[in-house]
Amino acid sequence: MLLRDRVALITGGTSGIGLSTAELFLREGARVAIVGRSEDKGKRALERLEVLGEVTFHRGDVSKEEDSERIVKEVVSRYGRIDILVNAAGVFTGAPLIEMSVEDWDRTIAVNLRGTFLMTKFSLPHMGEAIVNVSSTAGVSPYPNGTAYCSAKAAVIAFSKALALELAGRGIRVNVVAPGLTDTPMLRGIAGSEERMREFASLVPLGRIATPEEVAEAILFLASPKARYVTGQVLVVDGGMTAGRVTTAGSRAAVR
Ligand SMILES: NC(=O)c1ccc[n+]([C@@H]2O[C@H](COP(=O)([O-])OP(=O)(O)OC[C@H]3O[C@@H](n4cnc5c(N)ncnc54)[C@H](O)[C@@H]3O)[C@@H](O)[C@H]2O)c1
Repeated sequence: MLLRDRVALITGGTSGIGLSTAELFLREGARVAIVGRSEDKGKRALERLEVLGEVTFHRGDVSKEEDSERIVKEVVSRYGRIDILVNAAGVFTGAPLIEMSVEDWDRTIAVNLRGTFLMTKFSLPHMGEAIVNVSSTAGVSPYPNGTAYCSAKAAVIAFSKALALELAGRGIRVNVVAPGLTDTPMLRGIAGSEERMREFASLVPLGRIATPEEVAEAILFLASPKARYVTGQVLVVDGGMTAGRVTTAGSRAAVR
């Protein structure tokens, strides 16, 4: 068990990548606190997770200072400390810049970046070992109509590297997982249909979309003592999408 006796706080733990991470961490012996905005989703997640070990749900909006501060207080009063923090809560927006509302821009930055900052800031006095922030390939290799999301996710990477240097002396490691296309409610919402999911899959060199469990495995590695000499790094989990350009000519040559 890689996380025996660890206390882990996982934002976005009621859905998708965060929920799979909570499940995996519980299987690896951690006690887990999950955070999400919806009471209903929180209850459903608890039903799935409680059979695996000690887990609690804490409702709140990570982009709000008062919510983040309260959530951390609740978690520390229940578990006494936080060994591992995973910031997986996030929202996606995509639109040409000229059409993007100021509200959508602000919300994208607020949840993905400010939420990561707030949860980390309030957790730090109680922190033990490792922080893993969930960025995206959008933060590594930007694309059109993604200015807000790409900016927020790139900023999460810069934030994590700066913090890794700041906290190295305290022995707290800070790393990033940058997933590519991952089969979660977020991606299904973006795709809107099975056909579009198949189109997405055809863009991936490995030929399929990741499962949230596959991304959770990377988060587990960086959170665990197996990565005890790794800090300030970005682990891209994208089936090869950002490895380089797959040209038609190149692909044909590879087949021959
Ligand atoms: N699914 C993908 O293809 C993909 C790819 C790259 C990166 N990501 C990133 O992975 C992370 C998880 O995404 P997912 O695909 O599992 O999405 P999801 O929509 O399934 O889950 C998102 C979670 O974040 C929580 N959340 C959203 N806003 C919040 C807020 N303001 N306060 C508290 N909780 C909030 C939701 O309650 C939910 O639990 C996100 O940061 C996302 O940007 C996803």
